[in-house]
Amino acid sequence: MKILYSAPRGTKDILPDETKIWRKIKKKAIEVSERFGFSEMIFPTFEEEKLFIRSVGEETDVVQKEMFTFLDSAGRKLALRPEGTASLARAVIENGLLNEALPLKLFYIINCFRNERPQKGRYKEFYQLGVELFGSSLPTSELEVISLAKMFFEELNIKNLTLNINSIGCSNCRKDFVLKLIDYFKEHENKLCKTCKERLNKNPLRILDCKEEECEALKENAPKILDNVCSSCKEHFKTVEKLLKNNNIDYVVNHKIVRGLDYYTRTVFEFKTNELGSQDTICGGGRYDGLFEELGAKKTPALGFGVGLNRLFLLLKDKEKIENYCDLYIGHISENAMLKATKIAQNLREKNIKVQTNLLERSVKAQMKYANKINAKYSIIIGDNELNSNEIELKNMNEEQTKKINLDDFESEFLKFINSN
Ligand code: HAM
Repeated sequence: MKILYSAPRGTKDILPDETKIWRKIKKKAIEVSERFGFSEMIFPTFEEEKLFIRSVGEETDVVQKEMFTFLDSAGRKLALRPEGTASLARAVIENGLLNEALPLKLFYIINCFRNERPQKGRYKEFYQLGVELFGSSLPTSELEVISLAKMFFEELNIKNLTLNINSIGCSNCRKDFVLKLIDYFKEHENKLCKTCKERLNKNPLRILDCKEEECEALKENAPKILDNVCSSCKEHFKTVEKLLKNNNIDYVVNHKIVRGLDYYTRTVFEFKTNELGSQDTICGGGRYDGLFEELGAKKTPALGFGVGLNRLFLLLKDKEKIENYCDLYIGHISENAMLKATKIAQNLREKNIKVQTNLLERSVKAQMKYANKINAKYSIIIGDNELNSNEIELKNMNEEQTKKINLDDFESEFLKFINSN
């Protein structure tokens, strides 16, 4: 068959076998977030482009190169969300949620869009779990969101993740550090990769997380932010470390974690894996105490993280096999039998039993083959003989066992039978 259309590059169809794992991930995300007192928010897939420019930052890769933007019929410039934090902050301000009891704890499961070069673990449309805590400037909030993320991964049985933490200082101390950084890299400018030469003028902090070989070497001797942050940022970071240790959360301090979005202040963190090649960050987040002011609202400390659900899925998919199954397959081989079969199916589905019945013109053999394929636990085949004798044979598909049941009482007998097995 000639395929006329394929999915756009960088997007993925999620197939029926895979949605089971996706659902498990989403269910766990909701369960763990709610355990920590976070409530779900749903907000639009697109926003005014200006919102992202203002919050994510004009000079970031996301805004400069990766946003999908379009004009609506009234000429308004809109963008598909490249992430959730900016949209949620907008929604929180607009709906007056900061006037309610603080801290405000929200989570979301959303699709995001970034026009990045596709590769394993990197897509143009991808999914995120976002968890955001508004209104607390205390390091206990770092502990709260980091331990939520950790619990989520552990309960999905994802091991071997390394928590990397760093502080990028506040708006005051970062300015001086950035000047130092510019001085250092200016001295070695000719050794920087092409992108970092541009970053030197536009977004020097990002040089610290460049993966190019030539920049990696230079970074080793670059000034470290943590050595340069102000005493209050240092104190904050020390307390975060103390709380993590106290709660047995292993971490490494990684001076190269600076994050790719402009709104961050103080603590930043990432959970990384060594199983996915270069797209190794499963979760990224941090504090963004200046964002609300930047968006015109009152100053509100905030922090949170985003988990890349596609990457989580890649880690889980070879380990998990969640089989489709059905409780009962009802085959039939005559018109009258079909009437009886569909009736039984309807009655049992109303009682929450997973039932499938024959929807094609198939022989008994073909129907049994299909029942096997869909992993039916039990099956019955109704024909005129069964209708006449008012007796049906219930077959356990995994064992060669059968059980005779009165056809008129089938539904109640079957319910009793599976409840006792
Ligand atoms: P981010 O680091 O840009 O942060 O994205 C968070 C996670 O989303 C990444 O660690 C990665 O797992 C996943 N991700 C990002 N881009 C892609 C892509 N193109 N394809 C597949 N997965 C991807 C944020 O978005 C922040 N809003 C997180 C945050 C929330 N910070 C504070 N609160």
